[in-house]
Amino acid sequence: MDLLDGIGSLRSVRRFSLERIEPRKIKKILRAATMAASSSNSQPWHFVVVTKEQVKRDLGEIFLKTWLSHVQSLAINARSNRIRLIYKESTSMLRHTRAIPLLIIACLDMEKASRIPEAMYASIYPAVQNLMLAAWSLGIGSCLTTNGTSKLRGEVKSRELLGIPANVKIAATIYLGYPKGELSPPNRQLVEKVIHREKW
Ligand SMILES: Cc1cc2nc3c(=O)[nH]c(=O)nc-3n(C[C@H](O)[C@H](O)[C@H](O)COP(=O)(O)O)c2cc1C
Repeated sequence: MDLLDGIGSLRSVRRFSLERIEPRKIKKILRAATMAASSSNSQPWHFVVVTKEQVKRDLGEIFLKTWLSHVQSLAINARSNRIRLIYKESTSMLRHTRAIPLLIIACLDMEKASRIPEAMYASIYPAVQNLMLAAWSLGIGSCLTTNGTSKLRGEVKSRELLGIPANVKIAATIYLGYPKGELSPPNRQLVEKVIHREKW
C-alpha cells in the first residue's frame, strides 16, 4: 500500500474478524511504532501486547464499566447523530474486548519523557500513528482509544492488571484485528479550511 493511500484511507475499525494476527506481523507493527520521532529522540515508549483471552476479558470489564459511566456523564442523548453512532460502536467494541485479536497498550515512561508538557504525550502519539498505519498496510484495522489512561477510564485497575511500573503511564490502548465489514472513506473537513497562507 502506498503511504499516502494508507494515510488517506485509515479509519477507526471497531468490528473485527476473529482471525488471529500473526506474531511476525505484530513485530513489524511494533517496529514501525518505534521508528517514530520523539522529543530529543527520548523514545519514551513501551508497548504491552495482549492476546490472552483472560487478560482481554479482564481489561474489557474495566474499560466497559468506566466507559459507561463516562458516557452517562456526557449526556449522550443531547449529542449529534454522528457522535451517538461513534459512542454506540465504541461501546459495542468494548463489550467484545475478549474476542478482539490484539490489544496494544502504548505506555509512556515518565523518566524518559520530556518534562515539557507540550512535548510529553507528543512524543508517543507519532509512534501510535505509525503503529496504526503499519497495521493498516498489512490489512489490519485498528482503533485508538484512551481506555486505561485516566482514573475516569479505568487507569488504576488496568495498571494493576498489567503490572505497569509506577514511573510509567498508559498513553493509549489500541484495538487491532482484521476488519469486518466495509468502511467508508474518512470524513474530514476540506484542507483549505485549515490552511493559513503566510499569516492566519
Ligand atoms: C486521542 C484520541 C482518543 C480516542 N479515543 C477513542 C475511544 O476511547 N474510543 C473509540 O472508539 N475511539 C476513540 N478514538 C477514535 C476517534 O473516535 C476517531 O478517530 C474519530 O471519530 C474519527 O473517525 P475515523 O478514525 O473513523 O475517521 C480516539 C481518537 C483519538 C485521536
